Amino acid sequence: MEEKSVILEKAKKEQQLGNYQKSFDLLEQIFDIEDYFTAFEYAKILYFLKQYEKAIDIFLTLNEKNKEDRNVIDFIIKCYKENNNIEDLFKFVETKNLIDTKVSLEIAETFFDDKQYKAAINFYEQYIEKNKDDINVVSKLLQIYNFLGYKQKAIGLSDKYLTDSQVQDNKFLYNLFLNEQEIAQEKTILKSNPRIMLVMLTNKCNLRCPMCATIHQKNQWEISDEFKQYILNNLDNLELITWQGGEVFLYKGFKDLFLKAKENKYLKQIIITNGLLINEQWADLITQANHLDLTISIDSIEKDIYEKLRFGASFEQLLKNLECIKQCRIKNSSNITVTMRTTISDENIYTLDKIVDFAINYNINVLIWSPLIMEENKQYSLKNKSDEDLVVIKTNIDNALNKAQKNKIKIIYLLENAEDILNERKKIKEEENSKQETSFKQECKAEYKCSNTEDKNDNLFMTSEKRSLCFRPWKQIATTVEGKLRPECLCLQNIGDIHNCKDFEELWNNDFMQEYRRKMISFNQQWCCDNCKNNIVSEEHKKFTCW
Ligand SMILES: C[S@@+](CC[C@H](N)C(=O)[O-])C[C@H]1O[C@@H](n2cnc3c(N)ncnc32)[C@H](O)[C@@H]1O
Ligand code: SF4
Ligand code: SF4
Repeated sequence: MEEKSVILEKAKKEQQLGNYQKSFDLLEQIFDIEDYFTAFEYAKILYFLKQYEKAIDIFLTLNEKNKEDRNVIDFIIKCYKENNNIEDLFKFVETKNLIDTKVSLEIAETFFDDKQYKAAINFYEQYIEKNKDDINVVSKLLQIYNFLGYKQKAIGLSDKYLTDSQVQDNKFLYNLFLNEQEIAQEKTILKSNPRIMLVMLTNKCNLRCPMCATIHQKNQWEISDEFKQYILNNLDNLELITWQGGEVFLYKGFKDLFLKAKENKYLKQIIITNGLLINEQWADLITQANHLDLTISIDSIEKDIYEKLRFGASFEQLLKNLECIKQCRIKNSSNITVTMRTTISDENIYTLDKIVDFAINYNINVLIWSPLIMEENKQYSLKNKSDEDLVVIKTNIDNALNKAQKNKIKIIYLLENAEDILNERKKIKEEENSKQETSFKQECKAEYKCSNTEDKNDNLFMTSEKRSLCFRPWKQIATTVEGKLRPECLCLQNIGDIHNCKDFEELWNNDFMQEYRRKMISFNQQWCCDNCKNNIVSEEHKKFTCW
């Protein structure tokens, strides 16, 4: 047998070339837990092969032997993270008292991504204690304080940084810190300006999709030069702007707006489009943007169905444009995200698995699956499906989710959960069976259910400081397909109308906006939509901006 050191070197080389299995086979021959370096390489290769639990065991043994080895600690954290083992990760850093700032930030981000905001705060605080100038992290912490309703902490932190020259001399940051402070102070008249805009540039469109409200409008319109100027005036304050239509590429001023928006390095742009008017020149421009999500609506990956749902579209043209975008992304080493948005109905619910294959082929990063909205605002629902159909759909969704995860494609799934519906039905059947039992038992059950609901509400109000329902009225101005203005397009009450607004600057603090803010502070949902009321819209969407 070759000497141990020779095999170790060969294994390292194979690992560098990405030949993990070959490297593993070599290391397996010489693995010895008493030999620190060999054991480290062996655990490392297990990590690359995604065998996290085995890797953690070895790394933990190595950590016992040498507590100072930073590499081992980093791998333990990585393994716990990749394996989604948040509880053990938390225990590990707590018991080891790891206060190193790099680790603090990494762990904070892990908890944040896992929506464990209270746990995340401890680590963000540890981090900024030693990195006071990392303004991005400070502003994130500030927003988490507000999210959790820690108003005094938010006021304290914003006070401290509003006098800091890094913030004072930067229009964008100053507005952000002031805005967060005004949210914490529950101000209804704001000195800060909007941070998010959703802009419907025009209702003109190159297609006539049967399900779309835009095409049922009597008049064609586009934004006025005054409204365009209002957007331009605000660009420096914004962190998120969504451009939508109709088709944005039919609005003649779009290029100008897009290029000016690109100059603000903090601003993320989202373009929602059917993708058919993205020619080479646009593809080149878009893929050079720094912070952008291109959302392309594609309702089917089968030509016939696509062209039926997207009336007036050519499937070949869509594929050509997707290919062009893919090539431009490579050419420009682009960091944009491409999202494929599919409106789910019976036409595509059975093909979700194939949609993931399509996404892999075109290098699509995110898939949004949202239900078709029909007459009277009714949503496409899986509840109308038979048990047999639901089982087929569930299997298809599970396959799709697995494949997406393996290929690092994120799925934003906004439909009902097929498994929940099946379980609910099973429960109802069981309950019906037990109806033969005494009526006394039934009464007890009803009582139990009722007290359960009360408990839930109690918890809701006891969990944290009293906090507003939603921050959108402090952060955003949105336009609707009719050209109405609202804090967010979900909201029910208009605050203005772009077609006959005389002074756009006055909108932000007009009576309606003030009243929206008052309503949110006092938990009044009179002007809120059912999806927000029933928490189908997440608290994150209502309160955070870009995450
Ligand atoms: C109105 S379109 C405007 C942007 C662009 N023309 C497009 O198609 O992406 C915005 C999004 O609304 C979706 N949409 C249109 N009608 C819908 C409906 N009835 N239910 C659900 N989504 C719908 C479209 O598929 C698209 O993703
Ligand atoms: S392309 Fe978009 S805006 Fe145009 S009709 Fe279709 S869904 Fe509506
Ligand atoms: S909760 Fe929803 S409907 Fe209510 S203000 Fe916020 S975004 Fe608008």
